[in-house]
Amino acid sequence: MVDSNILKENVGKEASELIKDGQVVGLGTGSTTHHFIRYLGERVRNEELDILGIPTSFQSLILARESGIQLTTLDEYDIDISVDGADEVSPSLDLIKGGGAAHTIEKLVDSSADEFVVIVDDSKMVNSLGAFPVPIEIIPESLRLVKNAVSEMGGIPELRMGIQKDGPVITDNGNFVLDTKFDSIENPYELEIELNTIPGVLENGIFAGITDKVIVGRESGIDVIEK
Ligand code: A5P
Repeated sequence: MVDSNILKENVGKEASELIKDGQVVGLGTGSTTHHFIRYLGERVRNEELDILGIPTSFQSLILARESGIQLTTLDEYDIDISVDGADEVSPSLDLIKGGGAAHTIEKLVDSSADEFVVIVDDSKMVNSLGAFPVPIEIIPESLRLVKNAVSEMGGIPELRMGIQKDGPVITDNGNFVLDTKFDSIENPYELEIELNTIPGVLENGIFAGITDKVIVGRESGIDVIEK
């Protein structure tokens, strides 16, 4: 069996080859986009590409700088193409994201791009969303009230705790994350909207209807699924 990191590297490299000179590029977060950013940096150096990156997290910002990708912000530019990972991808290309707690800025960047490309290894392809708990970024003061509200909706919320840090995970935006398990997610569009109407919720990790293309790394090679 091929190591999933090799599959992630293959799709990261493949996606880096989609980027054209002069483009503004959304830089996703996670272990798969790590490879994308590295390979894009290599192309920028070797081919002297004039690319501007817009990072989705401190992780992608630091990595992009190390890789020699010039950065800008959404205040200054629109995005031509965004490349990001996912935790689950449904047959209709709806996603769960936020395993790295970066989904709020990821959604801002990915949804505003002219083209949104998702890169995953095949373990992320599922028949229906929901085995992966939905990450919900909340302002800390709302913890008890949001837990109650999502429980009433049938979710089982769990405050994400830090590793090598006592207490809860604090996001790049200074907030908490509630990982919320739903039995099954019949309608991702509705759940995405419903969760965001709870006071105290900043953003949730369901990305419904915004994916244009998924590049899937399999042992047998690379599959490209277009919307
Ligand atoms: C970051 O918060 C997430 O949305 C990641 O994009 C997602 O968890 C995929 O990460 P990996 O590429 O590490 O699996």
